[in-house]
Amino acid sequence: MDREERLRVAVQKSGRLTDHSLDLMSRCGLKYSRGKDQLLCYGENMPLDVLLVRDDDIPDLVREDVCDLGIVGGNVVHEKRLGFMARGVEPLFEVLQPLDFGRCRLSIAVPDQFRYEGPASIDGLRIATTYPHTVADWLERTGIKAEVVTLSGAVEIAPRLGRADVICDLVSTGSTLQANHLREVEVVLQSQAMLIRTPVPLPQAKEDWLRRILLRIDGVQLVTESKYIMLHAPRAALPEIRRLLPGSEYPTIVPLEGTTEKVAVHAVCRENVFWETLESLKAAGASALLVLPVEKMLP
Ligand code: PRP
Ligand code: ZN
Repeated sequence: MDREERLRVAVQKSGRLTDHSLDLMSRCGLKYSRGKDQLLCYGENMPLDVLLVRDDDIPDLVREDVCDLGIVGGNVVHEKRLGFMARGVEPLFEVLQPLDFGRCRLSIAVPDQFRYEGPASIDGLRIATTYPHTVADWLERTGIKAEVVTLSGAVEIAPRLGRADVICDLVSTGSTLQANHLREVEVVLQSQAMLIRTPVPLPQAKEDWLRRILLRIDGVQLVTESKYIMLHAPRAALPEIRRLLPGSEYPTIVPLEGTTEKVAVHAVCRENVFWETLESLKAAGASALLVLPVEKMLP
Protein backbone atom coordinates (compact mmCIF):
# COMPACT_ATOMS: atom_id res chain seq x y z
CA MET A 1 0.00 0.00 0.00
CA ASP A 2 1.34 3.42 -0.78
CA ARG A 3 1.24 6.67 1.10
CA GLU A 4 -2.16 7.55 -0.40
CA GLU A 5 -3.82 4.71 1.46
CA ARG A 6 -1.97 4.75 4.76
CA LEU A 7 -2.90 7.03 7.63
CA ARG A 8 -0.08 8.99 9.19
CA VAL A 9 -0.10 10.04 12.81
CA ALA A 10 2.44 12.62 14.01
CA VAL A 11 3.71 12.08 17.54
CA GLN A 12 6.34 13.84 19.68
CA LYS A 13 9.76 12.27 19.12
CA SER A 14 11.06 12.60 22.66
CA GLY A 15 9.34 14.33 25.49
CA ARG A 16 6.48 14.20 27.93
CA LEU A 17 3.94 12.96 25.33
CA THR A 18 6.00 10.30 23.54
CA ASP A 19 5.41 7.22 25.69
CA HIS A 20 1.74 7.97 26.32
CA SER A 21 1.12 8.62 22.62
CA LEU A 22 2.73 5.36 21.50
CA ASP A 23 0.95 3.52 24.29
CA LEU A 24 -2.37 4.96 23.09
CA MET A 25 -1.68 3.70 19.57
CA SER A 26 -0.80 0.25 20.93
CA ARG A 27 -3.97 0.18 22.97
CA CYS A 28 -5.90 0.99 19.78
CA GLY A 29 -4.55 -2.33 18.51
CA LEU A 30 -1.59 -1.08 16.47
CA LYS A 31 1.40 -3.39 16.15
CA TYR A 32 4.36 -1.55 14.68
CA SER A 33 7.99 -2.01 13.83
CA ARG A 34 10.31 0.90 14.33
CA GLY A 35 12.48 1.88 11.37
CA LYS A 36 16.27 2.09 11.63
CA ASP A 37 16.17 5.88 11.73
CA GLN A 38 13.67 5.55 14.63
CA LEU A 39 11.53 8.23 13.02
CA LEU A 40 8.82 6.05 11.58
CA CYS A 41 6.81 3.32 13.26
CA TYR A 42 5.40 1.17 10.49
CA GLY A 43 1.99 -0.29 11.27
CA GLU A 44 2.12 -4.01 10.61
CA ASN A 45 -1.51 -4.89 11.16
CA MET A 46 -3.22 -1.64 10.08
CA PRO A 47 -2.66 0.86 7.28
CA LEU A 48 -1.39 3.38 9.82
CA ASP A 49 2.11 4.68 10.47
CA VAL A 50 3.38 6.83 13.32
CA LEU A 51 5.84 9.58 12.49
CA LEU A 52 8.08 10.73 15.34
CA VAL A 53 8.80 14.45 15.05
CA ARG A 54 9.48 17.58 17.11
CA ASP A 55 6.25 18.55 18.89
CA ASP A 56 6.37 22.12 17.56
CA ASP A 57 6.26 20.74 14.00
CA ILE A 58 3.16 18.61 14.53
CA PRO A 59 0.47 21.26 13.79
CA ASP A 60 2.33 22.26 10.62
CA LEU A 61 2.63 18.66 9.44
CA VAL A 62 -1.08 18.15 9.97
CA ARG A 63 -1.91 21.53 8.44
CA GLU A 64 0.18 20.79 5.39
CA ASP A 65 -1.52 17.43 5.03
CA VAL A 66 1.73 15.50 5.45
CA CYS A 67 0.09 13.77 8.41
CA ASP A 68 -3.60 13.04 8.85
CA LEU A 69 -3.64 12.99 12.65
CA GLY A 70 -1.40 14.44 15.34
CA ILE A 71 -1.03 14.15 19.08
CA VAL A 72 0.31 17.37 20.52
CA GLY A 73 0.16 19.50 23.65
CA GLY A 74 -2.63 22.06 23.95
CA ASN A 75 0.15 24.59 24.58
CA VAL A 76 1.56 24.02 21.09
CA VAL A 77 -1.92 24.06 19.50
CA HIS A 78 -2.69 27.38 21.19
CA GLU A 79 0.61 28.99 20.20
CA LYS A 80 0.37 27.81 16.59
CA ARG A 81 -3.20 28.98 16.24
CA LEU A 82 -2.33 32.48 17.44
CA GLY A 83 0.72 32.43 15.15
CA PHE A 84 -1.32 31.45 12.08
CA MET A 85 -3.92 34.09 12.94
CA ALA A 86 -1.24 36.79 13.29
CA ARG A 87 0.00 35.90 9.81
CA GLY A 88 -3.54 35.91 8.45
CA VAL A 89 -3.33 32.20 7.60
CA GLU A 90 -6.21 29.84 8.33
CA PRO A 91 -5.17 27.41 11.10
CA LEU A 92 -5.80 24.38 8.92
CA PHE A 93 -5.91 21.74 11.58
CA GLU A 94 -8.92 20.67 13.48
CA VAL A 95 -8.81 19.92 17.20
CA LEU A 96 -10.79 16.73 17.73
CA GLN A 97 -10.55 16.10 21.45
CA PRO A 98 -8.37 16.38 24.53
CA LEU A 99 -6.59 13.19 25.57
CA ASP A 100 -6.18 12.08 29.12
CA PHE A 101 -2.45 12.66 29.54
CA GLY A 102 0.35 15.22 29.26
CA ARG A 103 -1.10 17.67 31.73
CA CYS A 104 1.09 20.70 32.37
CA ARG A 105 0.80 24.46 32.43
CA LEU A 106 2.43 27.40 30.79
CA SER A 107 3.42 29.74 33.58
CA ILE A 108 5.24 32.94 34.34
CA ALA A 109 8.18 32.30 36.68
CA VAL A 110 10.42 34.79 38.40
CA PRO A 111 13.85 34.49 40.06
CA ASP A 112 13.60 33.35 43.70
CA GLN A 113 14.54 36.74 45.14
CA PHE A 114 12.17 38.68 42.83
CA ARG A 115 9.47 40.60 44.71
CA TYR A 116 6.27 39.61 42.96
CA GLU A 117 3.04 41.34 43.89
CA GLY A 118 0.86 40.49 40.90
CA PRO A 119 1.13 40.93 37.12
CA ALA A 120 1.91 44.64 37.52
CA SER A 121 5.30 43.61 38.95
CA ILE A 122 6.46 42.56 35.49
CA ASP A 123 5.34 45.74 33.78
CA GLY A 124 8.17 47.09 31.61
CA LEU A 125 10.36 43.98 32.10
CA ARG A 126 11.61 41.35 29.63
CA ILE A 127 9.94 37.90 29.45
CA ALA A 128 11.86 35.05 27.81
CA THR A 129 9.73 32.34 26.21
CA THR A 130 9.33 29.90 23.34
CA TYR A 131 5.61 30.85 23.26
CA PRO A 132 5.71 34.49 22.05
CA HIS A 133 2.14 34.65 20.72
CA THR A 134 0.60 33.11 23.82
CA VAL A 135 2.57 35.46 26.07
CA ALA A 136 1.74 38.54 23.97
CA ASP A 137 -1.93 37.56 24.07
CA TRP A 138 -1.82 37.10 27.86
CA LEU A 139 -0.05 40.45 28.33
CA GLU A 140 -2.70 42.15 26.27
CA ARG A 141 -5.55 40.52 28.18
CA THR A 142 -3.88 41.37 31.50
CA GLY A 143 -3.19 44.95 30.46
CA ILE A 144 0.54 44.71 31.07
CA LYS A 145 3.28 46.02 28.82
CA ALA A 146 6.43 43.93 28.75
CA GLU A 147 9.02 42.95 26.16
CA VAL A 148 8.73 39.40 24.84
CA VAL A 149 12.14 37.83 24.20
CA THR A 150 11.61 34.84 21.91
CA LEU A 151 14.04 31.97 22.44
CA SER A 152 14.13 28.53 20.85
CA GLY A 153 14.98 26.68 24.06
CA ALA A 154 16.75 26.77 27.44
CA VAL A 155 14.40 29.51 28.55
CA GLU A 156 15.04 28.75 32.21
CA ILE A 157 18.60 30.05 32.10
CA ALA A 158 17.71 33.35 30.39
CA PRO A 159 17.43 35.37 33.62
CA ARG A 160 20.87 34.19 34.83
CA LEU A 161 22.38 35.08 31.46
CA GLY A 162 20.84 38.53 31.70
CA ARG A 163 18.77 38.00 28.56
CA ALA A 164 15.48 38.50 30.39
CA ASP A 165 14.07 39.36 33.82
CA VAL A 166 11.39 36.66 34.04
CA ILE A 167 10.32 33.69 31.95
CA CYS A 168 7.18 32.01 30.66
CA ASP A 169 7.62 28.26 30.18
CA LEU A 170 5.97 24.88 30.63
CA VAL A 171 5.83 23.52 34.13
CA SER A 172 4.71 20.08 35.16
CA THR A 173 6.60 18.81 38.19
CA GLY A 174 8.28 22.16 38.78
CA SER A 175 11.71 20.59 39.14
CA THR A 176 13.20 22.51 36.19
CA LEU A 177 12.15 25.79 37.80
CA GLN A 178 13.47 24.73 41.18
CA ALA A 179 16.81 23.67 39.74
CA ASN A 180 17.12 27.10 38.15
CA HIS A 181 16.11 29.09 41.24
CA LEU A 182 12.87 30.28 39.70
CA ARG A 183 9.35 30.24 41.12
CA GLU A 184 6.01 30.01 39.40
CA VAL A 185 3.78 33.05 39.91
CA GLU A 186 1.04 33.04 37.23
CA VAL A 187 -0.57 30.32 35.16
CA VAL A 188 -1.03 31.59 31.60
CA LEU A 189 -2.47 28.39 30.10
CA GLN A 190 -3.47 24.91 31.30
CA SER A 191 -2.51 22.22 28.85
CA GLN A 192 -2.93 18.54 28.09
CA ALA A 193 -2.43 16.33 25.05
CA MET A 194 -4.81 16.99 22.15
CA LEU A 195 -5.76 14.99 19.11
CA ILE A 196 -5.73 17.05 15.92
CA ARG A 197 -6.60 16.12 12.34
CA THR A 198 -6.26 17.56 8.89
CA PRO A 199 -9.44 19.26 7.70
CA VAL A 200 -8.68 18.04 4.17
CA PRO A 201 -11.19 15.38 3.08
CA LEU A 202 -9.53 11.97 2.87
CA PRO A 203 -10.07 9.17 0.37
CA GLN A 204 -12.92 6.96 1.60
CA ALA A 205 -10.78 4.01 2.70
CA LYS A 206 -8.56 6.28 4.75
CA GLU A 207 -11.49 8.17 6.22
CA ASP A 208 -13.01 4.83 7.29
CA TRP A 209 -9.81 3.88 9.11
CA LEU A 210 -9.63 7.29 10.71
CA ARG A 211 -13.21 6.86 12.04
CA ARG A 212 -12.28 3.44 13.40
CA ILE A 213 -9.19 4.80 15.14
CA LEU A 214 -11.18 7.67 16.67
CA LEU A 215 -13.74 5.21 18.05
CA ARG A 216 -10.98 3.07 19.48
CA ILE A 217 -9.36 6.13 21.09
CA ASP A 218 -12.74 6.91 22.69
CA GLY A 219 -12.85 3.33 23.92
CA VAL A 220 -9.35 3.56 25.39
CA GLN A 221 -10.23 6.84 27.10
CA LEU A 222 -13.36 5.28 28.58
CA VAL A 223 -11.66 2.25 30.03
CA THR A 224 -8.84 4.10 31.75
CA GLU A 225 -11.40 5.43 34.21
CA SER A 226 -13.89 2.58 34.07
CA LYS A 227 -14.12 -0.29 36.50
CA TYR A 228 -16.26 -3.40 36.69
CA ILE A 229 -17.70 -3.83 40.14
CA MET A 230 -19.28 -6.95 41.63
CA LEU A 231 -20.87 -7.27 45.04
CA HIS A 232 -23.52 -9.06 47.06
CA ALA A 233 -26.36 -7.00 48.48
CA PRO A 234 -29.57 -7.47 50.45
CA ARG A 235 -32.51 -6.80 48.09
CA ALA A 236 -33.76 -4.12 50.49
CA ALA A 237 -30.51 -2.19 50.10
CA LEU A 238 -30.59 -2.09 46.29
CA PRO A 239 -31.89 1.48 45.85
CA GLU A 240 -29.18 2.87 48.12
CA ILE A 241 -26.48 0.73 46.50
CA ARG A 242 -27.48 1.82 43.00
CA ARG A 243 -27.26 5.41 44.16
CA LEU A 244 -23.73 4.84 45.47
CA LEU A 245 -22.36 3.13 42.33
CA PRO A 246 -20.37 5.87 40.57
CA GLY A 247 -21.31 6.60 36.96
CA SER A 248 -23.05 3.31 36.24
CA GLU A 249 -26.26 3.11 34.24
CA TYR A 250 -28.16 -0.16 34.70
CA PRO A 251 -26.55 -2.71 36.97
CA THR A 252 -27.13 -6.41 36.33
CA ILE A 253 -28.90 -8.10 39.25
CA VAL A 254 -28.26 -11.83 39.53
CA PRO A 255 -29.99 -14.21 41.95
CA LEU A 256 -27.78 -16.09 44.39
CA GLU A 257 -28.17 -19.83 44.96
CA GLY A 258 -29.51 -20.67 48.40
CA THR A 259 -30.83 -17.23 49.41
CA THR A 260 -33.73 -15.01 48.37
CA GLU A 261 -32.72 -12.04 50.49
CA LYS A 262 -29.43 -11.39 48.78
CA VAL A 263 -28.54 -10.81 45.15
CA ALA A 264 -25.34 -10.24 43.23
CA VAL A 265 -24.90 -6.81 41.61
CA HIS A 266 -22.60 -6.36 38.61
CA ALA A 267 -22.01 -2.91 37.13
CA VAL A 268 -19.65 -0.98 34.90
CA CYS A 269 -18.67 2.22 36.64
CA ARG A 270 -17.49 4.93 34.29
CA GLU A 271 -15.52 6.59 37.00
CA ASN A 272 -12.74 5.41 39.20
CA VAL A 273 -13.94 3.49 42.24
CA PHE A 274 -12.27 4.79 45.35
CA TRP A 275 -11.89 3.14 48.75
CA GLU A 276 -14.39 5.64 50.15
CA THR A 277 -17.05 4.39 47.73
CA LEU A 278 -16.40 0.77 48.72
CA GLU A 279 -16.67 1.71 52.38
CA SER A 280 -20.01 3.44 51.77
CA LEU A 281 -21.28 0.43 49.80
CA LYS A 282 -20.27 -1.85 52.65
CA ALA A 283 -21.99 0.43 55.16
CA ALA A 284 -25.13 0.20 53.00
CA GLY A 285 -25.10 -3.59 53.36
CA ALA A 286 -22.93 -4.77 50.48
CA SER A 287 -20.49 -7.64 50.94
CA ALA A 288 -18.02 -9.63 48.82
CA LEU A 289 -16.98 -6.45 46.96
CA LEU A 290 -14.78 -6.91 43.94
CA VAL A 291 -13.47 -4.18 41.63
CA LEU A 292 -11.96 -5.24 38.30
CA PRO A 293 -10.18 -3.23 35.61
CA VAL A 294 -11.91 -2.99 32.23
CA GLU A 295 -9.65 -3.81 29.31
CA LYS A 296 -11.70 -2.84 26.27
CA MET A 297 -14.99 -1.07 25.79
CA LEU A 298 -17.02 -0.16 22.72
CA PRO A 299 -20.05 1.91 23.55
C1 PRP B 1 9.36 21.70 29.37
C2 PRP B 1 9.97 22.99 29.90
C3 PRP B 1 10.87 22.56 30.99
C4 PRP B 1 10.24 21.28 31.49
C5 PRP B 1 9.45 21.51 32.75
O1 PRP B 1 10.05 21.22 28.30
O2 PRP B 1 10.63 23.69 28.88
O3 PRP B 1 12.16 22.30 30.50
O4 PRP B 1 9.38 20.81 30.47
O5 PRP B 1 9.02 20.31 33.34
P1 PRP B 1 9.11 20.08 34.90
O6 PRP B 1 8.27 21.14 35.57
O7 PRP B 1 8.53 18.71 35.12
O8 PRP B 1 10.55 20.16 35.31
P2 PRP B 1 9.51 19.97 27.38
O9 PRP B 1 10.04 18.69 27.89
O10 PRP B 1 8.03 20.05 27.20
O11 PRP B 1 10.23 20.19 26.01
P3 PRP B 1 9.99 21.28 24.89
O12 PRP B 1 9.43 22.50 25.55
O13 PRP B 1 11.35 21.48 24.34
O14 PRP B 1 9.06 20.67 23.90
ZN1 ZN C 1 8.76 21.52 21.99
